[in-house]
Amino acid sequence: MSTALVILAAGKGTRMDSDLPKVLHKVGGAPLLHHAMLSASALEPARVVVVTGHGADQVEAAAHDFDADAIAVRQAEQLGTAHAVLQAREALAGFSGDVIVLYGDTPFITSDTLEKMISSRKQNDVVVLGFDAADPGRYGRLVMQGDALKRIVEYKDASDDERAITFCNSGVICAESATLVDLLDAVGNDNASGEYYLTDIVTIANARGLSATAVSCDEAETLGINSRSELAAAEALFQRSKRQSLIEDGVIMQAPETVFLSFDTIIGRDAEIEPNVVFAPGVTVESGARIRAFSHLEGAHVSRGATVGPFARLRPGAELAEDVHIGNFVEIKNASIDEGAKVNHLTYVGDAEIGARSNVGAGTITCNYDGVMKHKTTIGRDSFIGSNTLLVAPVTVGHEAMTATGTVVTKDVPDGAMAISRTDQTNKQGFARKLFSILRAKKAKQAKG
Ligand code: UD1
Ligand code: CA
Repeated sequence: MSTALVILAAGKGTRMDSDLPKVLHKVGGAPLLHHAMLSASALEPARVVVVTGHGADQVEAAAHDFDADAIAVRQAEQLGTAHAVLQAREALAGFSGDVIVLYGDTPFITSDTLEKMISSRKQNDVVVLGFDAADPGRYGRLVMQGDALKRIVEYKDASDDERAITFCNSGVICAESATLVDLLDAVGNDNASGEYYLTDIVTIANARGLSATAVSCDEAETLGINSRSELAAAEALFQRSKRQSLIEDGVIMQAPETVFLSFDTIIGRDAEIEPNVVFAPGVTVESGARIRAFSHLEGAHVSRGATVGPFARLRPGAELAEDVHIGNFVEIKNASIDEGAKVNHLTYVGDAEIGARSNVGAGTITCNYDGVMKHKTTIGRDSFIGSNTLLVAPVTVGHEAMTATGTVVTKDVPDGAMAISRTDQTNKQGFARKLFSILRAKKAKQAKG
């Protein structure tokens, strides 16, 4: 049976104290909303409905960024979680299957947990995701009778006995689409907050002879973000678990706590990541590659056997083939570096192609930008670019070609040729000694006053 998702993302997130809608704050380089959508994507949902309100335009754009087919619906006034889900009524029309309700500010629910809920739904009409809270605080409490979930009581409405319950509501709920809408229609707002509570569907289901139960997960999965400090804690949690999973998959890290990863970082087995490396989104590092200390990578692909850094920067579109060496203080942007090529020191390569086995000397710069447009530099295979070469793009250096140190390359260099553009050197005999003595005398005179 197919599944639909309803993701609640209309809340203001007052405690974030931010101009950015809460669900667009990032963890591991991706908006919270994308994490929620990602964990549910394993279920291959037939429909994804995102309920927006505060910052609706921005939130809708982000939802479509992740999934162009996502249906955005607006909740003009935030009257409660039941009211929020009901905004999806039309978007769910004609859909018969299970609906999972998730929160856009709760990024860590795993696909396994959602699968468990779907499978429990086969025996139960309403399935709620619960967790044993170390500190139950203001969470809604799950009132169980054996395996049956009798009701969910919000903290504000709970008796002392109910507040003593530590099994809490994560907010994730699953029910068949038409049943869910029916139950929601019956929810009122006669409670301590005057809100339409999604949680009330449990009581209503039981009263109608339907069955409800709870599936439980680890508390860490249910972490919801309401404040900046919770966001920082979520980031730390994300980093810890992403590092751990890479290490378990065979990545070598000497100081994992200093390596920062993104939601989509892919690193192959036996690749080595030295301390203090940052992976912004969009990076793939193949098996056996080595990323040395203090490098920053974004939107880059590093092939098997390649070495990057220390202190290197790979920007979007950096494509390194096997056995490439990128050394210290080198920046690569939108450029492909073919097999075995070396760019070892103090160099900028942007909008370029560098052929196999070529060597780019220290201080080389591809002058790719004329102030208005970007231009391309092409270097063939087995070429040698002398130190401090300026390649004024658009320009091509052929195969087995060479540029002399300090050359400003403004014209194409044919295969096998050497380009040299610098003034001839003259040596003025004795000139240095003479100049030193004049300068020293001047300094001594100044010192006397
Ligand atoms: C809710 C649950 C509570 C649970 C807790 C877990 C209800 C009534 N209570 O409480 O049992 O323990 O989550 O974190 O459901 N939202 C909307 N529109 C609204 C109201 C909320 O989109 O009108 C969204 C919010 O943006 C948020 C989510 O729904 O992402 C939860 O709302 P929130 O107000 O934070 O619920 P809690 O009071 O925390
Ligand atoms: Ca909340």
